[in-house]
Amino acid sequence: MSFQALIWNVRGIQNNPSINHVQLLCKEHNIIVLALLEPMASPDFPTFCRKLSFHHGVSNVSNKIWVFWKSNISGHVLKDCDQVIDISFTSSAYSTPFHASFIYAKSTRIERRSLWDDLRDSASQYNNVPWFIGGDFNCFLHDNERSGSNTNRTLDMEEFSQMVSDSGIVDAGFKGPIHTWVRNNLQERLDRIFTNTRWPDLFSKFHVTHLARVKSDHAPLLLNAYISSSRPPAAFRYFKMWARHHTFFDTVEQIWKHPTGFNGLMNLHHKLIRVKQKLKWWNKHLFGDIFQNLKNAENKVTQAEKIYDAYPNPTTKTALHLSIAELVLATKIEEDY
Ligand SMILES: *[C@@H]1O[C@H](CO)[C@@H](O)[C@H](O)[C@H]1NC(C)=O
Repeated sequence: MSFQALIWNVRGIQNNPSINHVQLLCKEHNIIVLALLEPMASPDFPTFCRKLSFHHGVSNVSNKIWVFWKSNISGHVLKDCDQVIDISFTSSAYSTPFHASFIYAKSTRIERRSLWDDLRDSASQYNNVPWFIGGDFNCFLHDNERSGSNTNRTLDMEEFSQMVSDSGIVDAGFKGPIHTWVRNNLQERLDRIFTNTRWPDLFSKFHVTHLARVKSDHAPLLLNAYISSSRPPAAFRYFKMWARHHTFFDTVEQIWKHPTGFNGLMNLHHKLIRVKQKLKWWNKHLFGDIFQNLKNAENKVTQAEKIYDAYPNPTTKTALHLSIAELVLATKIEEDY
């Protein structure tokens, strides 16, 4: 059993091309819960439910966040604020209820403070329930999540990351391009999904995909989650082999350099939590399954040998050498394990 959600800052849903695109994505990905941000339309849910093939729909108090769900799940609103709506979902398909927060953040740092406070408050209430938080946060967490501008966003990032660290939530990572919003030359990762540490109790496997950016300057976020077996979550472990991966030191350095807003031991404590959270994600999403990697590397060499044998030339020779180098690395990593 699985769970699929789509969260999209659609920037207007009243026109037919946007409605058709949402319909298509929901069908293609078997979406159970849909959140549309900035719908810019009056909340006529009977009409939109019929057009989009959903059974229930709600709007938050500012009418900037709409959430729809199918009849195989039931939802009730826990909290309704101007930048976030919290909904609890239950279904006979899932062993426990889970909570979801859908975000449409304001564009200024000062206005976002009440959102960060709402999320901190929810985090303290939902600490025993699987919970995900997703939407348009209207700011990014790290400098490497934007390009095309040098505007100083240190304070925006600090306040955002302070909330993340206070709430103990974890970036769910993503597949696809890093930036979710593009305007002219400016590209930023404004849209993202976090989970709390109880989320994997219910859904042991989950991933987020940044879908193609069409009909809006924001990419839709697709969350795929799969029900856990009864295996308890693995404790954090450091693997020596990680250091062989070319992104490892950069990953740690980036997290470590980022200010926590604390000094002394509290600073160290927060940095260690962040590094641990990031490495868990990094291990799962970037480092991957070392045995599978080894197998893939072996297959690549076999393939490259065949091609070189059939067409011996400098290009096929280089490709063969490259695949051998990758295999050597994969072998070393497997030996370290
Ligand atoms: C950006 O702003 C912060 C906080 O106001 C300041 O500490 C920092 O030096 C600034 N960075 C740059 C590159 O100007």
